[in-house]
Amino acid sequence: MSRKVIIAGNWKMNKNAAEGKALVDELKAACGNCCCCEADVVVCPPFTTIGAVVEAVKGTAIKVGAQNIHWADNGAFTGEISGDMLKSAGVEYVIIGHSERRQYFGETDATVNARLKAALKYDLIPIVCVGELLDERESGKTEEVLTRQIRGGFEGISADEMAKTVVAYEPVWAIGTGKTATPDIAQAAHAHIRKEIAGMFGEEVAEKVRIQYGGSMKAANARELVAQKDIDGGLIGGAALKAGDFLSLIKEALGK
Ligand code: PGA
Repeated sequence: MSRKVIIAGNWKMNKNAAEGKALVDELKAACGNCCCCEADVVVCPPFTTIGAVVEAVKGTAIKVGAQNIHWADNGAFTGEISGDMLKSAGVEYVIIGHSERRQYFGETDATVNARLKAALKYDLIPIVCVGELLDERESGKTEEVLTRQIRGGFEGISADEMAKTVVAYEPVWAIGTGKTATPDIAQAAHAHIRKEIAGMFGEEVAEKVRIQYGGSMKAANARELVAQKDIDGGLIGGAALKAGDFLSLIKEALGK
């Protein structure tokens, strides 16, 4: 089964509206639609930059994602953003459960699950992040942690909903550290994630789900990582902030 490569840039808390537009303009000027047609290419700016970026990507194949979503439709949740707000702003993807949210903002598998259901309800494509901490890996708990995050995060959704959901395996020790998981380590974790999804939703669904690798992915390592059987793309932080770096990474991931 061939799964379409998906590369998403997670801009985190970087790029105001003018800077975000400038980055997209550079992406467009350098590549037009060429490489963006063969992979699904997504950029995920901060909320206040979304409007400018949605405008800037018009007429291209580049899609826009958000970095979080609240589970309620609306109401007294100061500082939060709903699925309806994202959808009406032109957003098509949403990152859920990034390790920085788990680490600094109290995200749990239960809140990931609630956000996932909200994203699906509003027909947004979720990118759900899972991954172990360094001490969990060193104490041999990687698979146990991934299993817990998957079972808790994906509880109560349908097989069809799972099939369109994207998973991002991001070992926390590799994020922003320059330490990338080796292709073998990443592949083993991806295979475990796919096996867990098969256990919950069946083999056919598991074969459809795209699993991205994230954690210091860059042009120099993207080709080898995405060549692994169960690695279907990347969730990119630092290397998504400069058009040249991001485009080189996309080309490498596509094996060009
Ligand atoms: P990084 O971040 O590429 O800068 O390691 C990846 C992520 O956190 O999504």
